[in-house]
Amino acid sequence: MCGICGYIGKNNGVGKVVEGLKILEYRGYDSCGIAYIENNKLKLVKTIEGVDELYNLTCDKSSNFVIGHTRWATHGGVSEKNAHPHISSSKKLAMVHNGIIENYRELKDKLDANYYSETDSEVFLNLIDSKSGDLLTKVIDASKEVKGTFAIIILSEDGEIVLGKRESPLYLSNVGDELYIASDILALSGENFYTLKDDEFARIKNFEISFYNKNKEKIHKKQEKIKKNEAFLENFYKTHMENEIFETKNVLLKTLKEYENEAIFSKIKLPKNLKSISLIACGTAYHASLMGAEYFKEVGIDARAYLASEFRYGRELLNKNTLYIFVSQSGETADTIAAAKLVKSHKLNTLALTNTPNSLLNRICKNVLPTFAGREIAVASTKAYSCQVWSLYLFSLYLAGKKLPSERANSNFPFINFDEKFIKEIASYKKVFFIGRDLDYITAMEASLKLKEITYINCFAIASGELKHGTLALIDKDAVVIAICTQEKIKTKLLSNLEEIKARGGKVIVVSQFDDFKDFSCVKLSKFDELFMPIVSVIPMQFLALKICELFGYNPDKPRNLAKSVTVE
Ligand code: G6P
Repeated sequence: MCGICGYIGKNNGVGKVVEGLKILEYRGYDSCGIAYIENNKLKLVKTIEGVDELYNLTCDKSSNFVIGHTRWATHGGVSEKNAHPHISSSKKLAMVHNGIIENYRELKDKLDANYYSETDSEVFLNLIDSKSGDLLTKVIDASKEVKGTFAIIILSEDGEIVLGKRESPLYLSNVGDELYIASDILALSGENFYTLKDDEFARIKNFEISFYNKNKEKIHKKQEKIKKNEAFLENFYKTHMENEIFETKNVLLKTLKEYENEAIFSKIKLPKNLKSISLIACGTAYHASLMGAEYFKEVGIDARAYLASEFRYGRELLNKNTLYIFVSQSGETADTIAAAKLVKSHKLNTLALTNTPNSLLNRICKNVLPTFAGREIAVASTKAYSCQVWSLYLFSLYLAGKKLPSERANSNFPFINFDEKFIKEIASYKKVFFIGRDLDYITAMEASLKLKEITYINCFAIASGELKHGTLALIDKDAVVIAICTQEKIKTKLLSNLEEIKARGGKVIVVSQFDDFKDFSCVKLSKFDELFMPIVSVIPMQFLALKICELFGYNPDKPRNLAKSVTVE
């Protein structure tokens, strides 16, 4: 989703900001732009053609004051005029904004300003411009009137900069006489950084930085160390997604090593009388949570997974004997953050299971259990999912007082290369269904999400036992059913389901380590402990989505209408 970058320093910052935006590309965006000062005037360059084009358009520009943005359209379509930065009606201020101003209509009606875009952000900017006083006073006074979320940088034509935030992240770093600002630590330079808390502001004047609270009082801030989260393979394969699938084995082993002496678990402060676990997440992380809930139940702890967006508005009875685990690769997903804040406001026990060391979710939750998947860039999550499942599995063993496995993930880890013929065959079907029972049903959901995310095939997952309650009506010669079977106890039942599909002309493909499905096309899995099989079986499913995506000529790293971090609710 939207990304912010800024540079103030004695060198040329144009290239540095565009480079920063390039790093933020992975989050998903549909337009981008920069504002900079040239001869005491604010200049804008925007494009809907991507950051590479922005580079072409700006490579001959030079400025010591630059702000940039990658936009994910919410208010107003994808166009250059809606792309950020925006310029105020007086043309004296430029702004980049992440977040949503909920009361923008009401504010717009009150303001006397000219508008060049359809965005809520421009209304916030003109509200700031309408206030009196110095730039800091204007920004703080205006922020009191807006409802919603924001991370903003305001650049005035005389080179003064004010930034502030509410709910959306914003960071700064100071490298010599250069200042960098970004909404994602990955796009910052240097070793240390400052974080703004909600309703805190910073002013940069004459290259000096000072911080303020919402009462305009100066506050002191300490720098924190940037924790690195490095990927293992540097773009060895064609796409980030492929690279990341192939990193799975390494990151599972790394996680096991980090958890080995259990120190990481023993730091977690559990409820005194732990009775149950609630896992709360979105998207792929929700599927990992469903799997985690099964692992906790396996060791005798009552557990349940919730979609963060539903949890917030549901009727959950919050309980002091429950451990609330928030699962998120980025640690930034707005719905997950909001759910964590809700639980925290009841002073209950929260744990962030994230892959991003300095994330917002880590700051909100009382406890943190890191996953060690390294940086994940592809929008479709692969290695981070496997790592989340693995971490939850290991945590369940720890809670049950069981020994952690040592070399389980070490040998013979399965990477399945579907042959081209098989890919083409599946891609030719109009309807794709994924079925499974128990743990395999959860894998089926994740497999279906992966396929639709990057190939745009209309597909869905259904519990095998539910086929007969409606979905069988859709099975005919245009349907392919991919059945996942890794649990001994469900083999026989699945065989009858498959016969029903065959009898209606549907094509069946079985993904399994068992030899019982000889009458059907089969993707053979390596054999591991059954509780580990969900990690084994999801890999060929991720690979299937990737290969069909490539066959269709799409870029798996940049799927349409999808962002890596969804920072709006
Ligand atoms: C988006 C991404 C998914 C991700 C989900 C949750 O939908 O496209 O890949 O699973 O957000 O993200 P999180 O960072 O909280 O795991």
